[in-house]
Amino acid sequence: MIEDLNGRVAVVTGGASGIGLAMAEAFLVEGMSVVLSDVDQVSLVAQVDRLSADAGGRVSGVVCDVVDPDAVAALADKARDRYGVVHVLCNNAGVGPAGAMLATTASEWRWTFDVNVLGVAHGVLNFAPQMVEAGVGHIVNVASQAGLMTNVLLGMYSASKHAVVGLSEALYRELELTSVGVSCLCPELVATEIFDVARLRPKWVDSGETSDTTQRSLAEILAQRGVGADLVANRVVEAIQTGRFWVFTHDVTVPAAMQRCRDIEVGQNPSALA
Ligand SMILES: NC(=O)c1ccc[n+]([C@@H]2O[C@H](COP(=O)([O-])OP(=O)(O)OC[C@H]3O[C@@H](n4cnc5c(N)ncnc54)[C@H](O)[C@@H]3O)[C@@H](O)[C@H]2O)c1
Repeated sequence: MIEDLNGRVAVVTGGASGIGLAMAEAFLVEGMSVVLSDVDQVSLVAQVDRLSADAGGRVSGVVCDVVDPDAVAALADKARDRYGVVHVLCNNAGVGPAGAMLATTASEWRWTFDVNVLGVAHGVLNFAPQMVEAGVGHIVNVASQAGLMTNVLLGMYSASKHAVVGLSEALYRELELTSVGVSCLCPELVATEIFDVARLRPKWVDSGETSDTTQRSLAEILAQRGVGADLVANRVVEAIQTGRFWVFTHDVTVPAAMQRCRDIEVGQNPSALA
């Protein structure tokens, strides 16, 4: 828990868009210095320029692909060189390839897990030790409601987010006796670019045949029904200040997770989402 964020330092991966960008903006409002990091250099430079107009030297940008452990190590070094000890790390970078499980490809699975799971692990490995040593810190891992229950068409994504939930719970327990806190953010629908995967998909990833149509319809649902990323960012600020592990954004999340628990309890096969 870090009650007073003023003067502290945050690093946000995948910070050039959506939830990551909103978290960075909320941290700047709290008086923090923020290292915005992203694989998308063009968006990153544009957002750092925009935010610098008000925040000046309290914001800077580092291009970093979280899939590459050396790049994440370099991100940690650059953040420390620029601002000193990093107090808050948001492992937020993620991708949302969708499609019926049998239409997905092996390379899509690899990409999804590289970014969504190993990206988080790389952040933990490169930032948590310095936080433990400094005796202060908080790590926010961005999972999803899809890490607590499953949706059809999102099996691959959901599997990766279940891994983030598991990783985060274990990390919380391991750091419980230190001064480093952990939060696991599990949003439902948030109006961002997460389903516009074509802009980020590496050339070596075979997207399958049906995926672009599915991605478009999910993007439409997100645009129509998603909450603003600023709401999510405010929940994250509050969670860091109060030391809360579970961070939810929608009332439907806990009932959806409980439905699974009830199925397990009574030995029932997985229920369809209500
Ligand atoms: N939007 C939602 O409804 C929703 C719901 C639950 C969870 N999430 C999670 O929130 C996180 C943020 O996503 P968002 O919704 O803001 O989407 P977004 O696409 O708007 O932002 C994701 C950012 O991550 C960056 N990124 C992707 N791959 C990267 C990599 N390899 N290295 C570094 N940066 C990379 C992208 O360039 C982008 O700027 C993701 O982990 C996503 O899974 C989103």
